[in-house]
This record gives sequence, structure tokens and C-alpha cells, in this order.
Amino acid sequence: MREKILLLLNESDDYISGEEISNKLGVSRTAIWKVIKSLKEQGYEIESVTRKGYKLLSSPDILEEEEIHYNLKTSLIGKKIITYDQVDSTNKEAKKLALQGTEEGTVIVADEQLNGKGRRGRNWVSPKRTGIWMSMLLRPDIRPENASMITLVAGLAVCKAIETTTDIKPLIKWPNDIVINGKKICGILTEMSSEIDYINFVVVGIGINVNTKKFPEELDSIATSLKLQGNKAYKRQDILKKILEEFEICYNKYLETEDLQEIIDEYNSYCVNISREVIVKSKDISITGTVKCVTPKGELIVTDSTGKDTLITSGEVSVRGIYGYV
Ligand code: BTN
Repeated sequence: MREKILLLLNESDDYISGEEISNKLGVSRTAIWKVIKSLKEQGYEIESVTRKGYKLLSSPDILEEEEIHYNLKTSLIGKKIITYDQVDSTNKEAKKLALQGTEEGTVIVADEQLNGKGRRGRNWVSPKRTGIWMSMLLRPDIRPENASMITLVAGLAVCKAIETTTDIKPLIKWPNDIVINGKKICGILTEMSSEIDYINFVVVGIGINVNTKKFPEELDSIATSLKLQGNKAYKRQDILKKILEEFEICYNKYLETEDLQEIIDEYNSYCVNISREVIVKSKDISITGTVKCVTPKGELIVTDSTGKDTLITSGEVSVRGIYGYV
């Protein structure tokens, strides 16, 4: 009933009377009053006026299924949303659900991760209610060798969502770190289960530092949050919803051709590496050079001092001026 009342309040531009809610839901006005009282205790600002009814003025920054679903303009991504107060890792949870047959597009969101996973075995600090810790479960019908581009699709979607919901312009450090003023605000961890020619599932995990006020000392020089950059708190729900919407658009374009040709110009427009000096360390090689662009296949083209171009498909890239590399 709580969800249904919230939906009615959300949908109504003006006051909605207790009688109208009662008729629509078939419950007593006392029961409605009790729910309204508990919603107020949870941080919902609801005005109650005699003979007019209730009006929702604002919602707290809670990541709840119904609130995320409300007015969400997607048809696949987020059709099913599972939210947790606390979880080990949303990627771990998503993989578990994938093995149980959960459908494509399912999104797992947590308020806190106790064991958030970063790339290359690192951990991802995910304190309570300060960020967006989420994973999307995908089952793309594509060749496994093309799946790594999904990370770039997600990076673009995150940038576009942050830009439209906060007015802060983030950049992408290829392949998948999102940075603002040289510090990281978002990391993406894509994991896949596949056979040689068939993908069972892909899990795209996204971690965004939204309202973090302070980082542990070891991260302070390399990490930042939207709050620290924009000097105000942001509603995680708005950013999260926009990410799901932008991701669905970009993902569909990517699925059409199994590459990034439809979105690569936009990706490059956000890519901080372009025309910058980089050091790429991948397996046994280390290349220093200047980045030309990212190709429609998602590779980085690096030109060395002799003018030779090298195509980089994976590796750790340090960009001069971005966290620590001077
Ligand atoms: C990186 O190292 O840059 C990737 C970090 C990815 C973190 C996110 S938070 C949500 C999802 N669940 C995890 O355990 N990790 C990813």
C-alpha cells in the first residue's frame, strides 16, 4: 500500500484528498494517514491541508525500486530493479542472479557495499548513501570478442547522464574511468560469463562518488565526488535514472552494429586522452605517445615519437595531468 500511495502522490500535481486515495485503493483513511506519517518519518516532505488532502513536496534521497521506476523512460534496462540497503558487491549479486536465470535488463542497486570490487582485483570503497553502486545484467546476442566495448558504452552513458542532471561536465579516461578536474569520480567494472562463441551474460558494474564529503587519505589525491566538484548535494535517484535511460539508447545503437560506430564521435568528444601524452602499460610492453582517437572498435590509437601508430585494445593508461602523472 505504501508504494501505491507514493505513486498516487507522485502522479498528482496538486493536493489529493484522503477520500480519493481511499476510494482508489479501497483502504480506510486512517490507514492512509498512518502510511503518510511513516513516509514523513522517512524524510518525505508531505503537506497535509484540511479539506484539500495531501501534497508531495519532496522525496528523500532513497534508492527504492518504485521511485526509480516512476516515469523511467526505458523498455529493457531497469524493467526489474532490485534494491538493497547493504550488499557484499552488486556485481557479485548480479552474477548470482544471472546464474539463476534472471532476465536481461535487471538492475541491482545498493545503498552500501561491504566488499565493492574494482578492476584488476582492487577494492571499491562504497560507503552508505554517498554514491551510486549499481550493476546491470545483460544478455547480448553478440560475439564474445565484441563485449568489451560495452564498458565504453556505459562510460558514455554515465557522462551524458551526469552532464544533464548536474551541469558538471565529466570526461572519460579510456577505457572506463570517469574524471572531473583530473580526479576519478566513477569506475566501471564489466564482467562476463561466456562460451567460446556465446555469451551467457554480462554484468556492468558502475560506481559513482556522488555525495562523498571526504575520502580515505590514500584516495584523496586521486578521487573526487560530484558534491566536492559542484559544491552541493545531488539526488542519486535522478542521476541513476538518467544513466539507465542513456545506457539503453547507447546500448541499442551498439547492438545494431556490434561496435561503436554510431556513438564513437560522441565518446571521443568526452575522451580526456585525445591529443594528450600517455603511457600505456599492457602485458609486457610500455608505450609512450600521443593519443589520436578511439576507434569504432573501442581501441586507442597512440602515436609514438617516430610517428608510428599503435592500436591499444587493453591496458593501464596514464594520462599526463590526470591523477598523479605529471
Ligand atoms: C574500477 O576499478 O574503476 C571499477 C570500479 C567499479 C565499482 C562498481 S560499484 C558497483 C559495482 N559493484 C562492484 O563490486 N563493483 C562495481
